[in-house]
Amino acid sequence: MPAWYSEPSCSARSRAYKSTEVPARLSVFLDHASGAPLHPAARKALEEALDAFGDPLRLHSEGRKARKLLDAAREGLAADIGAQPDEIVFTSGGTESVALGVVGVARAAGKPGDRIVISAVEHPSVKGATETLAAEGFEVERVGVAADGKLDLDAFVAAVRRPGTVVASVQHSNHEVGTLQPVAEAARLAREAKI
Ligand SMILES: Cc1ncc(COP(=O)(O)O)c(C=O)c1O
Repeated sequence: MPAWYSEPSCSARSRAYKSTEVPARLSVFLDHASGAPLHPAARKALEEALDAFGDPLRLHSEGRKARKLLDAAREGLAADIGAQPDEIVFTSGGTESVALGVVGVARAAGKPGDRIVISAVEHPSVKGATETLAAEGFEVERVGVAADGKLDLDAFVAAVRRPGTVVASVQHSNHEVGTLQPVAEAARLAREAKI
């Protein structure tokens, strides 16, 4: 574990105490799925970004400074995931990203009457996005999971192969119980079905 990871919240409170002292309360943070201590490099980048207050769409020097930072962030992220910079869309968070991905792709690739396939254990944001699509006339098919929480791949492949399926959504890891889903296999099967 890197030194920055446990500082300062754990080590400061867990220092040795004399027998007459009330023991310091130890705390362990177990919700790293939703948030984690900021890596020092991320903190540095964030602090630098706070100083670039200009509107990146303006041509004055402060605007150009902000634009340079934004472009560098977009290019760095694109290179990290093998995408083109203009394919990177910054959003406010998880729910907006899912809405753009699921609703956006369904509307672009399909029409009312077409089908969206999701696992039965998707995050509520995915369920919300599919409710929007269902109200527009899309059909939503939920594929079940086994007792260990893993996606039923046979049912998944049957669903994605049904004509009219335009989007399939399977989470990487479950936000409540931590099950890792076979996403690489699911993606391969979806690609084979031309989704
Ligand atoms: C798939 C997914 N959607 C939505 C959210 C909620 O995120 P936000 O509060 O940023 O909208 C999370 C949070 O972990 C998530 O994992």
